[in-house]
Amino acid sequence: MWIWLLILTLSLHLAPEHASVPLVINTWPFKNATAAAWSALQSGGSVLDAVEKGCARCEVEQCDGTVGYGGSPDEAGETTLDALIMNGDTMEVGAVANLRRIKNAIGVARAVMELTEHTMLVGESASLFAERMGFTAEDLTTNKSINIFSQWLKGNCQPNYRKNVYPDPSKYCGPYKPVPVQHQNKRATSANEHAHDTIGRCLSGNKNDNNRTLLLPIQLSYFKHLK
Ligand SMILES: *[C@@H]1O[C@H](CO)[C@@H](O)[C@H](O)[C@H]1NC(C)=O
Ligand SMILES: *[C@@H]1O[C@H](CO)[C@@H](O)[C@H](O)[C@H]1NC(C)=O
Ligand SMILES: *[C@@H]1O[C@H](CO)[C@@H](O)[C@H](O)[C@H]1NC(C)=O
Repeated sequence: MWIWLLILTLSLHLAPEHASVPLVINTWPFKNATAAAWSALQSGGSVLDAVEKGCARCEVEQCDGTVGYGGSPDEAGETTLDALIMNGDTMEVGAVANLRRIKNAIGVARAVMELTEHTMLVGESASLFAERMGFTAEDLTTNKSINIFSQWLKGNCQPNYRKNVYPDPSKYCGPYKPVPVQHQNKRATSANEHAHDTIGRCLSGNKNDNNRTLLLPIQLSYFKHLK
């Protein structure tokens, strides 16, 4: 079962002469994440603060088991994290993908945006950047993720997201090699309705602004191969 989370946080703007109305909306019922975003806004934080705090709450709570540490391990049994944040005022974007060892992926995404001229850092480079910026390096593995991984191995590595490889990925674990083109198995694939982000959060505007702003940070996780 694939589980996804989308959180929207909207701060609606009425006509410029009116005060804006902050609004936090979740598409999934992660109330603590909503509350964390709301609380950040109410205590004078920026829209970015609200997005980061809300997403970070889900990282700590491992919302649905697909956000944060200990989630869906990859083929090597490791949990790695992805996150993206955007500031619509400036159109700056910060993102990390395949982030290792750091639990607060959304915080690292924001650091990429604010402390580098890059848009995205990935893998070990992203982790080293995070460590140098003061993020704590920790094991993202949990007993649950170890168990998911060992069950996956026991089940002949199913579900398996390989295709056109041998040995037959529906029956056997790898290592795999590509099947020569003329012999490729034309397995039918269909779109998965859950195949979107796991936690997305949008804010339009800021309660302190009189102009329109758009912020679209999306946190993408953690479904690399399992779950
Ligand atoms: C939400 O926060 C409350 C209070 O901190 C906590 O007791 C509860 O376990 C949290 N919910 C989840 C799903 O983690
Ligand atoms: C994880 O498993 C180890 C042994 O397999 C056990 O000692 C430990 O208490 C477990 N941790 C949790 C949080 O269940
Ligand atoms: C939006 O408003 C802020 C002040 O609230 C101002 O600093 C910023 O320049 C404005 N942005 C635009 C695009 O007008």
